[in-house]
Amino acid sequence: MKTWQEMGFQREITRDGSLTLKTEGTSSEAMHHSGGALEETLFIYGEPLREIFSLLPKARIFSLGLGLGYVEFVTAAQAILAGKDFEIVTMESVEPLSQVLKAFLRGDLSDGEIKSDLENVLGGVSEKTGVSKDLLFQELGRALNEGRWDIRGAFGEDSVPEGRFHGIMYDAFSSKTSPLLWTEEFLSNFWGACANEDSLVSTYACTGNLKRSLKKSGFQLDARSGFQGKRSATLGRRGIFISPRDS
Ligand SMILES: C[S@@+](CC[C@H](N)C(=O)[O-])C[C@H]1O[C@@H](n2cnc3c(N)ncnc32)[C@H](O)[C@@H]1O
Repeated sequence: MKTWQEMGFQREITRDGSLTLKTEGTSSEAMHHSGGALEETLFIYGEPLREIFSLLPKARIFSLGLGLGYVEFVTAAQAILAGKDFEIVTMESVEPLSQVLKAFLRGDLSDGEIKSDLENVLGGVSEKTGVSKDLLFQELGRALNEGRWDIRGAFGEDSVPEGRFHGIMYDAFSSKTSPLLWTEEFLSNFWGACANEDSLVSTYACTGNLKRSLKKSGFQLDARSGFQGKRSATLGRRGIFISPRDS
């Protein structure tokens, strides 16, 4: 496949010049804020990832929703900048998205719109983080080959990953599109099973269910503004990520 349309997506450029996708159809949700796919990723997930790699020698990251892989490229960039190791488990329900990103990193993607767009995602993250495109490409490709980056299928009640994570980048579609993923019970069970004692949970969303589930699981919540006009985002801190001043 060479175009997003052949995969059933509509391609849109966000205000920062980066790219987002939408499933074709009127009721579908865009993967990113129209103000900037890359800027939003850096704002919501970049800083927590930087913090994680500054404190831990090796971090295990969970990323919900591969989309265009912005979160994964930013994870690799922050790990490289800190000189640290990482493992990522990504869950993505649309299998062709996982396939094209894997093919891209293996150098197997044929020329066309998709390849050129993924090169732009890579270039954008490289430019904003100061990590060279070659290094980012090699590092994520190596993580994939070595099994340190595992891209799995749909996330849900029966597919919670094993083990615990230091960073949970919860970038699911909203509760309107994916109601189960935002119920208090589902979230509480997930933090209970998969969040490390020392962990950060970051998401663009800020709902009552989310905040209650995090607090009940022992997370302290940062007051955090949302990206470009969204009311607020959420960052939950537990263990070593709670500053002693605030505990
Ligand atoms: C907001 S976008 C994620 C954007 C992505 N983090 C990035 O860096 O480009 C949400 C993604 O979640 C995927 N998705 C929707 N429901 C899912 C589920 N139950 N499990 C895993 N992925 C899901 C969608 O296909 C979409 O790619």
